[in-house]
Amino acid sequence: MSDILIENSEGVTTITLNRLARKNAITASMYADLAQAVTAAGADTACRVLLFQGHETIFSAGNDIEDFLNNPPATEEASVFAFLRAISTCEKPVMAAVCGPAVGIGATLLLHCDLVYAGDNAAFSMPFVNLGLVPEAASSLLVPQLMGYHRAAEVLLMGEPFMAEAALEVGFVNRVVAPTETNAYARTQALKLAKKPLTSLIATKRLLKAPTQAQVQQVMVAESKLFGPMLQGPAAREAFGAFVEKRRPDFSNL
Ligand code: COA
Repeated sequence: MSDILIENSEGVTTITLNRLARKNAITASMYADLAQAVTAAGADTACRVLLFQGHETIFSAGNDIEDFLNNPPATEEASVFAFLRAISTCEKPVMAAVCGPAVGIGATLLLHCDLVYAGDNAAFSMPFVNLGLVPEAASSLLVPQLMGYHRAAEVLLMGEPFMAEAALEVGFVNRVVAPTETNAYARTQALKLAKKPLTSLIATKRLLKAPTQAQVQQVMVAESKLFGPMLQGPAAREAFGAFVEKRRPDFSNL
């Protein structure tokens, strides 16, 4: 079965991360499929709303670490950045249902969703520093904008996870429900949105995004210029090597 499932019905395109054996970690080829799915849904007249979801136990462990080592995103044309451009510029409403861990891009992609519903087991983390990297997906701009500088520093410098209730408090998610109900609840909300006039949804989303859109794109480019080279750097090599070897990283000389 495919690692990404795409289903269109009743105006809702549902994109399901479906790689449970690897905790829905995302590879370069999955990013390419995701970018293609978002672009196609944007152009498909049968799609009015996009909905991302995972499993009730896991949303995504973020970048697939082994794949990242083997296929590092060397340029801005890399599929991960193509996906981020696609989701951050999608004109139609984008929603997400998130349960369990949402790590790295599994959390930052939510900054580009308009409505996010979380299971009460959701745990969000952006541990880029712990991996010898820098934030991506314009999270270095959007996280402090959303939750204020000091909370953003806890999330982005300390790499500390935050749970569903804290995410609700800072406005990172819209509502917290039981994990067994999250995907169904998000679909119900998506169906409500799909019945509204699409021209008005698109125009409203454009207005909501207008003040930040250009800056978001600029910051994503600036982040990607650091992210690619740092992925080849000694701190990331140590962090990823430690993950693969199931040991603690040693950054004492880095
Ligand atoms: N890339 C590649 N493989 C991953 C992965 C990732 N990001 N996350 C998990 N996996 C693999 C594990 O290596 C493990 O493989 P194994 O069964 O061959 O040992 C399997 O998925 C299950 O993961 P495990 O860690 O045992 O699951 P868990 O439920 O205890 O923890 C997470 C889930 C998501 C909290 C934990 O896997 C994790 O922290 N993963 C790394 C997240 C990360 O740093 N991502 C990069 C962000 S840029």
